[in-house]
Amino acid sequence: MRIRRCAIVYLEPREDAAFDLDSLLNGGAGIRRRLRWLALAPHLAAEIEVDPAQRELLGRIGPGVWTDAAPWLAEQADTLARLLDCGLLLSEDDSDEVRAAHRAGDEALRSGHWWPPAALAHRLGRWQGLDSAAAMDAAEMSTAADLRRQLGAPPPHAIERAPADARLPLPRLDDGAFERLLARRATCRNFDAARALPYELFARMLQRVFAAQAQVRISDDTVFLKKHTPSGGGLHATEAYLIVQNVEGVAPGLYHYHPVEHALEPLPAPAAPLAEFAAQAVAGQHWFADAHALVVLAPRYARSFWKYRQHAKAYRALVLDVGHLSQTAYLSATELGLGAFVTSAINEVDIERAFGLDPLADGPLAVCGFGWRGERMRTSEFDPAGGVWPRD
Ligand SMILES: Cc1cc2nc3c(=O)[nH]c(=O)nc-3n(C[C@H](O)[C@H](O)[C@H](O)COP(=O)(O)O)c2cc1C
Repeated sequence: MRIRRCAIVYLEPREDAAFDLDSLLNGGAGIRRRLRWLALAPHLAAEIEVDPAQRELLGRIGPGVWTDAAPWLAEQADTLARLLDCGLLLSEDDSDEVRAAHRAGDEALRSGHWWPPAALAHRLGRWQGLDSAAAMDAAEMSTAADLRRQLGAPPPHAIERAPADARLPLPRLDDGAFERLLARRATCRNFDAARALPYELFARMLQRVFAAQAQVRISDDTVFLKKHTPSGGGLHATEAYLIVQNVEGVAPGLYHYHPVEHALEPLPAPAAPLAEFAAQAVAGQHWFADAHALVVLAPRYARSFWKYRQHAKAYRALVLDVGHLSQTAYLSATELGLGAFVTSAINEVDIERAFGLDPLADGPLAVCGFGWRGERMRTSEFDPAGGVWPRD
């Protein structure tokens, strides 16, 4: 048997603290602390606790070349077997289903050209089945006043890096049409679920935000798209997956948007009813869940990392790409008289399952959405200047 270590693994000495009644009753602090070593590896679904023998062995078997396992089998057969079973070590031709799946996951990661810390942060930062709205309510952290009470004052809203008399005052210019558009943009948390979104408005939103406006063909297999939004390396790696809920002429369901054909590709329905899945996707944020169309923003990492291999800035650029797309969506919607939102508080795992996405190949980073605004503000919006909601 030939073995090697997985491509990426980080070891963390972690301290867990838990309430301990016995300690409290015996005059202690009431907290039990436990130190343990955890192996964090982006090709695995969960963290793995490792003992000192496993930790040492991981440091002695390299990730590069396959090596004969015989010396380790003779000395530390149990330790080796446990590391192979959990996927931190891989065997070259093991037919065991679990071990083969770990090997395939590791090989996919190797060929994906992820910068290791980014792969780890991306994989570990995903949520599943979380109701962030309920969690915020339970923690009494839903309003700005709640936050101030629970957390104290935040760092200041603006900082000064020079004395007041050294400032160069700039002229305040009159607003033009573009400033008036910007002033009408506010994150929409009040959609009108009773009013369907016309097909033309829906199509125009997708055309503006996600469609290719032109193409540059370097060769038959190398094409660059021009869009209305900037993109790191001009690669436009981010795909748009739609949850269409209330659009005239479009059957409610899941779709992938084709940016060159400007067309919807129908996908299988999610396991849960559509409205339930939409709420799950945005982690229980009911104020977004009833938008007419929600758009999952999911980069194809390989498209970016084709150019930016193991690059320390590549994942960051993809996060920025997604943010730029959402701003184009906000402004496009505002100009059309619609509301829009973006959120990174999403249940990535549930979204991946429904759309058939792989976390390290095309897992989502954010969800945006758009639709008609409601007439009443049921959930608060941040509109202090009355750009959207008339002030009394
Ligand atoms: C990256 C990003 C993530 C956001 N996530 C959430 C979110 O999870 N829930 C939410 O209600 N609003 C979310 N928002 C909206 C912000 O709360 C909002 O932009 C902010 O309060 C300022 O309000 P405005 O967009 O109306 O100017 C997010 C905005 C951005 C840019």
